[in-house]
Amino acid sequence: MSVIGCGYLGAVHAAAMASLGHEVVGVDADPAKAAALAAGTAPFYEPGLDELLAAGIGSGRLRFSTDVADAAGSAVHFLAVGTPQLAGASAADLRFVREALTGLLPHLREGDVVAGKSTVPVGTAAELAPAIEQRGATLVWNPEFLREGWAVHDTLHPDRLVVGAGDDEAGRRAVRRLREAYADPIAEGSPFLVTNRETAELVKGAANAFLATKISFINAMAEIAEASGADVTLLADALGHDERIGRRFLGAGIGFGGGCLPKDIRAFAARAEELGKGEAVGFLREVDAINLRRRAEAVRLVVESFGGSVVGRRITMLGAAFKPYSDDVRDSPALDVATRLRGLGAKVTVTDPQAIGNARIAHPQLKYEQDRDRAIRRADALVLVTEWDLYRRELSPEHASTLTTGRIVVDGRNCLDGGAWRAAGWTYRGLGRP
Ligand code: UGA
Repeated sequence: MSVIGCGYLGAVHAAAMASLGHEVVGVDADPAKAAALAAGTAPFYEPGLDELLAAGIGSGRLRFSTDVADAAGSAVHFLAVGTPQLAGASAADLRFVREALTGLLPHLREGDVVAGKSTVPVGTAAELAPAIEQRGATLVWNPEFLREGWAVHDTLHPDRLVVGAGDDEAGRRAVRRLREAYADPIAEGSPFLVTNRETAELVKGAANAFLATKISFINAMAEIAEASGADVTLLADALGHDERIGRRFLGAGIGFGGGCLPKDIRAFAARAEELGKGEAVGFLREVDAINLRRRAEAVRLVVESFGGSVVGRRITMLGAAFKPYSDDVRDSPALDVATRLRGLGAKVTVTDPQAIGNARIAHPQLKYEQDRDRAIRRADALVLVTEWDLYRRELSPEHASTLTTGRIVVDGRNCLDGGAWRAAGWTYRGLGRP
């Protein structure tokens, strides 16, 4: 197998496929990334990935290259390159998918299967297929649902596998080949769903749109709670007991970020517009707007906690990554809130156990301190924006009190025990809570 593109998705996929017993070559144009992976070190933080890489390389089944010619001879080629948001527009930028395919085409043999894993607008596979078929190969779409931070687990034990293929002999052969590739997770019970290519592309966009909508729904309820004196966290607990609703992804706070949900809902809406069905997903614009309003509300809450101004106040942001167990800061709500507070004149320090390297590149103007206790020393307020255990479970108000100057804590993820912080003499504020 080959895996073209070795970022958060492809690197994990390559290592996971090798651990399932396949012979895998990962191809990435970035020499530094390919070299790090070849040495068994993930160029980003993903729990369990280094071990999986080392095992794959040690077994001789996993290697990495910068040259797409090394993909030649593989029976299945997974396309795992990024599809970021187009600059200045909502749509997805498919440049990397097209470039990867152009590079791969001359190396395809009769009977090869190209399996697209990247998140693409519905209709992309139909556009790419003819060039692949000209080489006697077959294109299927096989979207990926892994979560960063859980990527190794999600890839080895997927909650479902979806393969979109043409309804002809070549399509059926390609589906059989992917069934073989995923034989272990299938044997373990992962459902294997075969659809046409359009449905497979849409499943991915729809899944992320649903997750984003669920988060923004509870954040919309947080706005109502703020105006009425209700507590959104208890509301979410009560709603979550209804199995039809479920408690997961009802975490109210500063909202969703990362390299997927924000850009995917925008690309989804943009594609719906192109199809003349913009109205059908008009609510996604609201989902986006609610999400962005939460960042502003977190800032407002901090300012209010100081009586109306943060000028000159020392504020420590607990977290930089868009979520815990990740060093990814793409569209991170945490850094957005930090940047806005700094813009209002606060002296902001950002701490994070994993993401400071990436954060510094994205926001060089902010001040960083890796060590949690050094970061909170002499702070006037703490603002929790990424729910790492280091802050959520392992920072007691009593310990924090020995280091900080002020006693204000704003909980942007509603993950602290507000009662315990109040009992220790702190002013505790959560989003959507009285
Ligand atoms: C998301 C999807 O969950 C994956 O299924 C999908 O494969 C992936 O995008 C992708 O398209 O590649 P990921 O971006 O890793 O995965 O992160 P999530 O765990 O979905 O979290 C996204 C954001 O939502 C984070 O900023 C998180 O803090 C926020 N969130 C999550 C909430 O604000 N509240 C919640 O209750 C849950």
